[in-house]
Amino acid sequence: MARKIIIDTDPGQDDAVAILLALASPELDVLGITCVAGNVPLALTSRNARVVCELAGRTEVPIFAGCDRPLERKLVTAEYVHGKTGLDGIALPEPEMALQERHAVDFLIETLRSEPAGSVTLCPLGPLTNIATALQRAPDIAARISEIVLMGGAYFEVGNTTPAAEFNIHVDPQAAEIVFRSGVPLVVMPLDVTHKALTTRARVEAFRNLGTPVGHAVASWTDFFERFDMAKYGSEGAPLHDPCVIAYLLKPDLFTGRHINVEIETTSELTMGMTVADWWRVTDRAPNAMFMGDVDAAGFYALLTERLARL
Ligand code: BDR
Ligand code: CA
Repeated sequence: MARKIIIDTDPGQDDAVAILLALASPELDVLGITCVAGNVPLALTSRNARVVCELAGRTEVPIFAGCDRPLERKLVTAEYVHGKTGLDGIALPEPEMALQERHAVDFLIETLRSEPAGSVTLCPLGPLTNIATALQRAPDIAARISEIVLMGGAYFEVGNTTPAAEFNIHVDPQAAEIVFRSGVPLVVMPLDVTHKALTTRARVEAFRNLGTPVGHAVASWTDFFERFDMAKYGSEGAPLHDPCVIAYLLKPDLFTGRHINVEIETTSELTMGMTVADWWRVTDRAPNAMFMGDVDAAGFYALLTERLARL
């Protein structure tokens, strides 16, 4: 039976590729997509999720708009990476499919209560505002979540948004703290992993050579956001962060990490949103997350390309 997942997301080109990877994979049953403010404001992330589902021909997947700002802090967006729309790189038609009327947080709570306990996995690809709000409003759902596999944080790679913090955690550190202290089993894909999942010319050409609208869109998106990371890091390509979450569900052996304690910095402005990972186990704080550190990048791109070819 396919594994039931809910993708919580702020598309974002790499979020878009993650959504496509999930939709292309019969092992996964996408119960819904919940959108949050992050890379761009909520109106755009909830538009972009529909653009992506229409591109994949999957207009039956319900898409919900959620929180339009972090729990306590002012929203910080990342148009400087993702462009004005969040999905810059190729012009795609405005979506025709409707957004669901229910709030994303209500969908999360109601679904987790109505599906069998332990049967639904959450896949957050953006700031954790929707997930934290659901956990705050309905603490009973924590015990019903199978696991949370999320993209966020960094340890050896430190920050991509501030010197200390990764974007998703930096945008809503209070939400991240709630999730990391929830007791729900966590698998974390930090920058330490995603910065090893870099595009190359050959990998982007492999997307383009699929010769499909999906392959063309993925190549165009990657071409677009690559410019930012290549200039910043001097790397050959750019990290496809969010698809690592979905790839883990499909092929966990591609990734290695450690089950350790991870705490979120929520007080110091200087290091706000830092994921303080006890990688070397120098404290007696209880492990709360499988914090990944490495990926088989060739295997990851082979999986991604093979799956995208199915759409
Ligand atoms: C994360 O931030 C966003 O820009 C990407 O979509 C990814 O989820 C990487 O720091
Ligand atoms: Ca994202």
